[in-house]
Amino acid sequence: MDVQAIKNAYRRYAFCYDYVFGKLLHPGRESAVRYINQHLPADARILEVGVGTGLSLPLYREDLTIVGIDVSREMLDKAKQRVEREDLRQVAALVEMDAENLKFPDRSFDAVVAMYVASVVPNLERFIHEITRVCVAGGAIIVVNHFTSENKFIRGIEQKLSAVHKALGWHPDFPIEPLVDHPRLELVNQFRTNLFGFWRLLHLRNITAEAGAAA
Ligand SMILES: C[S@@+](CC[C@H](N)C(=O)[O-])C[C@H]1O[C@@H](n2cnc3c(N)ncnc32)[C@H](O)[C@@H]1O
Repeated sequence: MDVQAIKNAYRRYAFCYDYVFGKLLHPGRESAVRYINQHLPADARILEVGVGTGLSLPLYREDLTIVGIDVSREMLDKAKQRVEREDLRQVAALVEMDAENLKFPDRSFDAVVAMYVASVVPNLERFIHEITRVCVAGGAIIVVNHFTSENKFIRGIEQKLSAVHKALGWHPDFPIEPLVDHPRLELVNQFRTNLFGFWRLLHLRNITAEAGAAA
């Protein structure tokens, strides 16, 4: 799926996204932000990639500095309305930007959060490169996503649904290995979340600079 297909899909979703995916995916958002709130010091800078309509933004501690980016203007407009309506002072900026081509200098953020976006981006390798580049060495990268099921029956459904991934706006058949086995990332912890545990939260550590892999 290219960026234009993503923009088209989320332009269609924007008006109903919160009704369809708000509650369903909220436990994962709460767990991800809980980790950030419990472990990051005051004034820490957090990048949320694929921030969408900003459903997670009210959950962040007020003394953090949150920057959200997304490629969909319509989704971001909803997030901006939420920030204004709820007076969310922890949100420093919401910017239209491609996660595969981040306009931030290296090591700009203390942690990166990516919820339900890794299986949407066109080029996962480029995405990982960018989020690890803008995160400090050793910083937390929190990913929440649905990954290819270990259950044969469900995997069959995921593979069938993959044929219509453009209309869906994400890849239902999305393996976990490229993330957890990536040389720029170290898996610290993972657990299941959301309905029936079909989604997972991955707590990854950015080992880019430590591994001498920064480019
Ligand atoms: C399934 S939604 C998740 C939104 C939000 N994170 C949430 O918790 O509901 C995926 C979001 O990722 C955005 N997205 C997809 N590809 C992107 C990219 N390459 N760069 C930035 N945002 C992207 C989409 O526009 C959409 O808003």
